[in-house]
Amino acid sequence: MLTESSTSTGTPFSTLVRTATEQQHSEAEHSTFMRDMLGGQLGVQAFYRYTGQLWFVYEALEKHSAALASDPVAGPFVRPELDRLASLEADLAYLGGANWREDLVPLPATAAYAERIEECAQQWPAGYVVHHYTRYLGDLSGGQVIRGTAEKLWDLPKKGDGVRFYVFEAISNPAAFKREYRESLDRLPIEGAELERVLDEARRAFTLNTDLFQALGAEFVTSN
Ligand code: HEM
Repeated sequence: MLTESSTSTGTPFSTLVRTATEQQHSEAEHSTFMRDMLGGQLGVQAFYRYTGQLWFVYEALEKHSAALASDPVAGPFVRPELDRLASLEADLAYLGGANWREDLVPLPATAAYAERIEECAQQWPAGYVVHHYTRYLGDLSGGQVIRGTAEKLWDLPKKGDGVRFYVFEAISNPAAFKREYRESLDRLPIEGAELERVLDEARRAFTLNTDLFQALGAEFVTSN
């Protein structure tokens, strides 16, 4: 019988996934690329390039929304108020001008990340959920720090073009939204070996992000 993920270990799944990725969260947050970009050492070109890479990640996350919306595991997480692709496109058009689509080339690390999301979206809804968690809950949290810094560093319109990706217009109370999101995580019917597999996938999701930062860091070291 399927039980709530929390019942097999006594710890809610939302806590398990946060704890499982805590160390990696810190590594991602303090990666050289993030530090240099948010420290103002890299310039707006790096932010533009980073935003372009995110386009591929969110395209993969949002491409299968229609099919996943009716999935018993992934369905509760597929919420139109989270959709980021249109905001990313507005930001890219602002930051890159008319040719932004031609500039949009995935780094190998980005392509690998997007490919893994797609695999999960098509074959493993619980795996998809932890990819979803890693990005959207992060955007609602630390993403707000990135937005504030980007606005100041590059004189971008506050909550406007360039940083729309970080502005969730349709979510009036992010703290409440995150609380409900965690409650949905805690209702996931995951236990035993599947729980371990899902936590591994969450760690993999963070690794894929760190790999991407590393690739971006390598690209911008030379232009610095
Ligand atoms: C400069 C970079 C970053 C900063 C400053 C930052 C900061 C934060 C902060 C302060 C929280 C806690 C919010 C709360 O308690 O509600 C948070 C949560 C989170 N962050 Fe980050 N973060 C950064 C990068 C990232 C990255 C790169 C990822 C993964 C792609 C990520 C994923 C998450 C997730 C999933 C959560 C939710 C944790 C949970 O409560 O379950 N963050 N972040």
